Amino acid sequence: MELKNDLLLRVARGEAVERPPVWLMRQAGRILPQYRAVREKLSGFKELVETPELAAEVTIQPVDELDVDAAIIFSDILVIPEAMGLDYEMVEKRGPLFPRTIRSESDIEKLVDGETAASRLGYVYDALELARKNLGGRVPLIGFSGAPWTLLAYMVEGSGSKTFSKAKRLLYTEPALAHRLLEKITQTIIAYLREKARYGADLIQLFDSWGGILSPALYREFSTPYLQQICSSIPEVPVTVFAKGAWFALEDIARMDCQVIGLDWNISAEEGRSRVGGQKVLQGNLDPCFLYAGPSQIRRAVREMLEAFGGRHIANLGHGVYPDTPLEGVKAFVQAVKDYRYK
Ligand code: CP3
Repeated sequence: MELKNDLLLRVARGEAVERPPVWLMRQAGRILPQYRAVREKLSGFKELVETPELAAEVTIQPVDELDVDAAIIFSDILVIPEAMGLDYEMVEKRGPLFPRTIRSESDIEKLVDGETAASRLGYVYDALELARKNLGGRVPLIGFSGAPWTLLAYMVEGSGSKTFSKAKRLLYTEPALAHRLLEKITQTIIAYLREKARYGADLIQLFDSWGGILSPALYREFSTPYLQQICSSIPEVPVTVFAKGAWFALEDIARMDCQVIGLDWNISAEEGRSRVGGQKVLQGNLDPCFLYAGPSQIRRAVREMLEAFGGRHIANLGHGVYPDTPLEGVKAFVQAVKDYRYK
């Protein structure tokens, strides 16, 4: 289907454009009253993720309400561990919980991987296909996956954590096992993302949400090679690598076969640009907390951000929008980008 607004894809391909495209990580979620209304009627988060009609509906809500330049398919990074044989629960107000975790070599060997695991995610592909159809070419549709290290972190730790020390312990004490697990996760992600591209994802974003808790040396050993393997395995679509907190790895990420690099707010646009070089597009990076400020302050901050990136840029926050962000702030952010023109 012909896209009516392909700004995101033109920028990702390196073309010069009149203004940056804008979308927000976690735009499909609790900031929208429409989302909360759908969610309230359900048994829980997983029912929404696993019902393609509803997942497609909440995917499109931010395009209707916020007029963003892209949709991101509503799902979660934890569908991959589940497809590999490790079920998760989403506990209200607490977050993800894995009743069983990875503790030994035999736990890893028992995991299903690659295409067999990816074939269990039919509900995601159905949601993508439906969202794409119902978007009718209004904006591109982003597909995503967690990065191998971030998924390992949840599979070993069993829940969110400040330190992920169980997961990091595995890297230090059983590196061969960690690599075996990362390989199985990577093969599953590749099969999954190829399917997503086939079902209509226009761009893929990899979330390495826990990249920043690794040392540069650990990151280079346990994350970089797997991210690169994924980037080079989905040549059909542009890829964004967003490694939260892993500013120390920027030069390594800049060498990957990706088109876009996501930045969080811990690094300035100037430093990001000089360390990445001109070959990649940068995405980000306003602090999500800035959206608690008033509209005029937000507009000023957005203009400063766009000036600092100065082109080859996708406007976004430095991480997902927080659920209690006033809709007014979110709209001021989006509108300020849409009103901007490059000189
Ligand atoms: O709009 C979008 O960005 C698309 C949907 C999306 C969700 N999760 C929906 C969701 C995406 C891209 C994700 C990715 C995801 N999930 C990440 C990587 C991005 C990041 O934030 O670093 C991670 C680490 C997860 C794991 C996860 N899922 C956690 C830790 C939580 C609980 C925290 C919370 O916000 O409540 C979730 C639940 C989740 N995933 C919600 C949403 C909208 C909350 C939903 C609800 O309770 O209705």
